[in-house]
Amino acid sequence: MRRPFVGGNWKMNTDLESGTVLAQTLAAQWKQNADVCDVVLFPPFPYLQSVARAIDGSSLALGAQDVSSEVNGALTGEVSAEMLIDIGVTWVLVGHSERRHRLGEPDSLVAEKFAMAIASGLSVVLCVGETLLQRSAGNAHEIVVSQLSSAFERIPSDALERVVIAYEPVWAIGTGVAATAEDAQGAHGVIREFIGSRYDSELASGIRIVYGGSLVPGNAKTIFAAPGVDGGLLGGASLKAADFLSICSSAMIGIATGSAG
Ligand code: PGA
Repeated sequence: MRRPFVGGNWKMNTDLESGTVLAQTLAAQWKQNADVCDVVLFPPFPYLQSVARAIDGSSLALGAQDVSSEVNGALTGEVSAEMLIDIGVTWVLVGHSERRHRLGEPDSLVAEKFAMAIASGLSVVLCVGETLLQRSAGNAHEIVVSQLSSAFERIPSDALERVVIAYEPVWAIGTGVAATAEDAQGAHGVIREFIGSRYDSELASGIRIVYGGSLVPGNAKTIFAAPGVDGGLLGGASLKAADFLSICSSAMIGIATGSAG
């Protein structure tokens, strides 16, 4: 069975004090071991070290919201994989829709960041998903597959155990309108099929695929119970300790009761 994964993407929210308190609260209250469920916090860059201290000794892991595609050099404002590893980061988000659509990151840059993070030894949550316009035109699955084809071009098969794919339809992110369990199941099936054809069926059935977009305690259980949904990536709900913990618990229950997909 695939181990559930829940990520809390704080985006450009919190401040030093509230972020540290949030991390301390989660570390104190989340009692499951990392070998039964991965729970990863993605705070803003300036608070990474403070959050690292707050979660030290707990089963929570530390993630960064972005990573440079380059090793080092004259790249103002960029943060390298080595710098992140240096301060205890083990996960990074790559290809989040806000970076793709609001900041204009093309598929090619997403692929470079993904390859760099993997080559550096980090684990990666690769985000994919269609816009409302693409969905309305009937192209949702095609868009997801084209994002995946580009992203996985340079990823060796032995790195897949360090990859989680997040299906995050852009129209569901931060809107309060989550995808239905059926929508998620359909897209996750397409993603798993892609991994099967790009690699093999064993890797396809082993890779973890999580859903993201307006997850809240009230809809998480249903979505997580859908076959092929291995957890979630949360934005808004990750800023409230009680909601985040409730969704982490739902991931463990939902995935245990849902079928393998
Ligand atoms: P949301 O964001 O939960 O606030 O919709 C999800 C995400 O962007 O990962």
